Amino acid sequence: MVMATALIDSFAPLEFTNNHLLYKETLDRFIEQQNNHGGNIGLPSKEELIGDALRERVESVDHEFCAPGDEDTFFVADLGEVYRQHLRWKLNLPRVKPFYAVKCNPDPKVLQLLSSLGTGFDCASKAEIEQVLGMGVDPARIIYAQPCKTNSYVRYVASHGVRQMTFDNADELRKIARLFPEAELYLRILTDDSSSLCRLSQKFGASLDSTNNLLDLASRLGLNVVGVSFHVGSGASDPLAFLKAVRDAHHVFQQGAACGFDMKTLDVGGGFCSDASFEDMAGVLRSALDEYFPAHTGINIIAEPGRYYVSSAFTIACNVIARRTLEDPAAVNGAVSTSRESSYMIYINDGLYGNFSSIMFDHQHPVAKVLRADGRTIYGTAAAGAVPDGIEYSIWGPTCDGIDRITESIRFDAVLDVGDWLYFEDMGAYTKCSATKFNGFSDDHDVIYVCSELGAKALLGWL
Ligand SMILES: Cc1ncc(COP(=O)(O)O)c(C=O)c1O
Repeated sequence: MVMATALIDSFAPLEFTNNHLLYKETLDRFIEQQNNHGGNIGLPSKEELIGDALRERVESVDHEFCAPGDEDTFFVADLGEVYRQHLRWKLNLPRVKPFYAVKCNPDPKVLQLLSSLGTGFDCASKAEIEQVLGMGVDPARIIYAQPCKTNSYVRYVASHGVRQMTFDNADELRKIARLFPEAELYLRILTDDSSSLCRLSQKFGASLDSTNNLLDLASRLGLNVVGVSFHVGSGASDPLAFLKAVRDAHHVFQQGAACGFDMKTLDVGGGFCSDASFEDMAGVLRSALDEYFPAHTGINIIAEPGRYYVSSAFTIACNVIARRTLEDPAAVNGAVSTSRESSYMIYINDGLYGNFSSIMFDHQHPVAKVLRADGRTIYGTAAAGAVPDGIEYSIWGPTCDGIDRITESIRFDAVLDVGDWLYFEDMGAYTKCSATKFNGFSDDHDVIYVCSELGAKALLGWL
């Protein structure tokens, strides 16, 4: 339990301040692990655990005899990865309390772990709020971060004690004044999201020339504005977007004070990626916060990271359900064909209408690797990856729609056929949650959980 308690936020029953030495030890261990390229002393690595789980499942399925759906797509989720991301967050943004964006992946085990770690939750709908409250989370740990809310949902949160919510326009203020005047409001401001994968500011955010009027209206309506929020766009790549947004938020804090509001919290939203850009992003944000909202002002800083926490934790395995051979023209003209001269269209049992919805909605480019071919499971080996001079494949989803294509062209050494398996890493963000049942395919696939961190296992009660 030791390792786990060290990472718990002050929301949790065990106070972080009582564990500062353990926290430091854990961070030191984390840095050592990073320097050693991972490796979790005494536990199998993330790759070993995921590889074993994938192998066990796919080797248990015989596509010639299995029942319908036995060969369905499935995920393997390493909750240790979510835990490490939390540690990395604490290391880089110690002043910023994360409120995980549930929309990104409402997986119950992910939420359970994050709840144990003491994060808050950013929810966008009644169902998300219900799910989080259903875990026994204190309503004070939830922000209803949707500037344009459904009336009945506002009444729902009012009766369930969820007070924090965002707004960005005058109509919404009047709605809240009517339905929930005691709400704690965050004024969401517009950002420069031009460097992000998914732009949000076309839809949400008050421009700086409207914020004064909005604060004035909130004051006249007798509402309680407690802070400012922003989102620099999901999958942001320009750290300076955070600097500008923090500066703008500071300006709006001053406007709020002039209107008589005692603003106490800045919400810096999401947009963080899990790759190496995180450290750059966090560095710029940290400095901006220290300049505009220094610790001595006592302003609380929260954030709404989604993708950052889960993207790299989920791997998906998909079955090859059909193959179409595109013969080499020379072979058609009578020459002897070898498989290397042909190319193939392969059809797998998941696609753009399923867990690969991230290609459409989240501008992602999932990369296929070979999990099982020719009777051998080859996860994590060099042979699993693409090669420049291998056999060419295009990879298609199972629906009747022509846009349902995952990969236009990729080359593998392996000759893939029906019953073989592919896997795709980094499939945790905006995948399962936006899958549909189009053409009657399932949108609810198994998740096999593994855990490469002892601390996370302790928190999950797996020890
Ligand atoms: C209001 C809000 N907060 C947080 C997020 C999570 O963003 P990300 O996954 O980029 O961290 C989103 C994503 O759309 C959002 O709209």
